[in-house]
Amino acid sequence: MATHILLTGASRGIGAAIAESFKHDKVRLIGQGTRSGIPTDFADPKAPVALWNKALDALDGRIDVLINNAGVFETNPLDIDHEDWVANWERTMRVNLTASAELCRLAICHWQAEGRPGRIVNMASRAAYRGDSPAHWHYAASKAGMVGMTKSIARGYARQGILAFAICPGFTMTGMADDYLASRGGEKLLADIPLGRVADTDEVAVLARFCALSAPPSMTGAVLDINGASYVR
Ligand SMILES: NC(=O)c1ccc[n+]([C@@H]2O[C@H](COP(=O)([O-])OP(=O)(O)OC[C@H]3O[C@@H](n4cnc5c(N)ncnc54)[C@H](OP(=O)(O)O)[C@@H]3O)[C@@H](O)[C@H]2O)c1
Repeated sequence: MATHILLTGASRGIGAAIAESFKHDKVRLIGQGTRSGIPTDFADPKAPVALWNKALDALDGRIDVLINNAGVFETNPLDIDHEDWVANWERTMRVNLTASAELCRLAICHWQAEGRPGRIVNMASRAAYRGDSPAHWHYAASKAGMVGMTKSIARGYARQGILAFAICPGFTMTGMADDYLASRGGEKLLADIPLGRVADTDEVAVLARFCALSAPPSMTGAVLDINGASYVR
């Protein structure tokens, strides 16, 4: 029986590499982007439920694996209007954390109702542990939220065969990292990474595929770092 997967942020970057990593596996994958797959903008509070229902329909009523990968890395400097700063904070929280939380809830309720096991893979970030720049408090907080949520799910539902993993990439070569690297001095930032380079999307995809399909159940609750030793815990 094919494994049915819902992958958010599948259109590009890490998500596209994750989708590609399943090409030799027996899976049916539904992807989401703002304009591709099932088009969804997580800034809209109604979007996660609508996406879940459409994905469930497209997968004949069964989703086995949820991969919450979609995310934004937007700047929010202190020297803007307070209302704008709060609006930026809430947008990042909604897209990066609340939408993922809603999808996790819907997935867990689905598995509980059907009496089936399931797996959740949440894309967090090194920023969850190390923090981020002064213009990215909201990003770091949203990713720390992903880690705390993943651990809570792992502890709460392991007995029901519901497993949860979080992945914490450091800089990974995508549009998101390109902009950031350029804004922070490019090559100079690499000096902070003992491996001497940022991660490839394929490297992160290897971890996501492993957690989605074959990580041993005893690993549930694990938070996996992939950052070239730029932050070791
Ligand atoms: N790249 C890094 O250095 C790095 C480091 C640590 C963690 N991460 C995390 O890894 C994940 C993927 O990052 P990436 O670098 O691959 O990002 P990316 O290349 O910028 O791609 C982001 C993905 O999220 C989707 N997305 C963006 N805004 C959305 C919204 N409002 N509603 C729904 N979907 C939205 C995009 O869809 P569209 O293409 O349709 O817009 C796209 O598929 C993110 O959660 C990110 O925080 C990345």
